[in-house]
Amino acid sequence: MVSEPLTDGHGRRIADLRVSVTDRCNFRCQYCMPAEGLPWLERDEVLRFEEITRLVALFARLGVHDVRLTGGEPLVRRDFPRLVGMLAALDGIEDLAITTNGFLLERDAGALVAACETRERRARGIRFNVSIDSLQRDRFYALTRRDALDQVLRGLARLAEYPQAHPIKVNAVALRGVTEDEVPAFVELARHSAYEVRFIEFMPLDADRAWSSDQVLTGAELHAMIDALHPLEPTEREPGATARVYRFADGHGRIGFINPVSEPFCGDCNRIRLTADGRLRTCLFSLRETDLRGPLRDGADDDQLAQLIRDAVWRKELKHRIGEPGFVQPARTMSAIGG
Ligand code: 5AD
Ligand code: SF4
Repeated sequence: MVSEPLTDGHGRRIADLRVSVTDRCNFRCQYCMPAEGLPWLERDEVLRFEEITRLVALFARLGVHDVRLTGGEPLVRRDFPRLVGMLAALDGIEDLAITTNGFLLERDAGALVAACETRERRARGIRFNVSIDSLQRDRFYALTRRDALDQVLRGLARLAEYPQAHPIKVNAVALRGVTEDEVPAFVELARHSAYEVRFIEFMPLDADRAWSSDQVLTGAELHAMIDALHPLEPTEREPGATARVYRFADGHGRIGFINPVSEPFCGDCNRIRLTADGRLRTCLFSLRETDLRGPLRDGADDDQLAQLIRDAVWRKELKHRIGEPGFVQPARTMSAIGG
């Protein structure tokens, strides 16, 4: 029973799992957390490495082959490279990736890359998304409440020293009134570095619930601004991909747009999420969750856990309802869900 692939009630095959390894973060991004932080989970509420590994191994047997580790900020979890090594050694994980704010990459890039150097994984390496919303020091400080742009850029450069870590993606949340004058610097970065830059539309997952649609700078608007600077050509969109990726027509680099608000891509969504406290979420905007930690700690076997997972996945939401009347923002913010 474990071997049948995971499918939802809308016929979508689930192949991508985002695992939040902690709800804590060393930044306080304006749109994500209040300056004083959020009430953190207690230590024993958070899944242990062995528990995460057991669940991920089970998901892999159910056909999940892409795993992305997120937070909060995953690198603040003590001994995080050890978890990466445990997951990298599992059968069936084709794509292992980490989403990080980069602050601790200067310290950890080497250990993270090394953790994936098991015999089986050497060819595939590990992929990174580094979140950088501004390339100007003051603006970065204002957005993240940390004067840390240089530290993040040093971390990015350290990561780039490892061929196994490429291609490296740099993700920027696009905010109206903020991101417009970041465009030239991000375009330069995309064209003249090894990084692929991607803009993400701002979604209603903010801590202060102040999101409004007029704060969303759409991918189409950004595309038009960039195309006027340097013409863009589309690349083929892979099924399940969140980003629309373009290449610069003159051959210098690529740039992408993740447009969940203006152009939802729910139709071929293949993603589910596991929170740091062991709840399965079938959509970023889910209003209900399935507890896996309780059964796991009560001694459930793999078949019992697999059944819980199948039932939850079967009820995966058709689509998000941002912008529709009656849309309800989930209680968790992005930092407590995992991006
Ligand atoms: N909308 C869009 N992206 C967000 N992120 C955090 N909150 C939001 C939001 N409300 C981004 C982070 C990071 C990734 C994990 O998700 O900036 O790039
Ligand atoms: Fe899928 Fe929910 Fe994301 Fe839409 S918002 S793409 S339904 S996970």
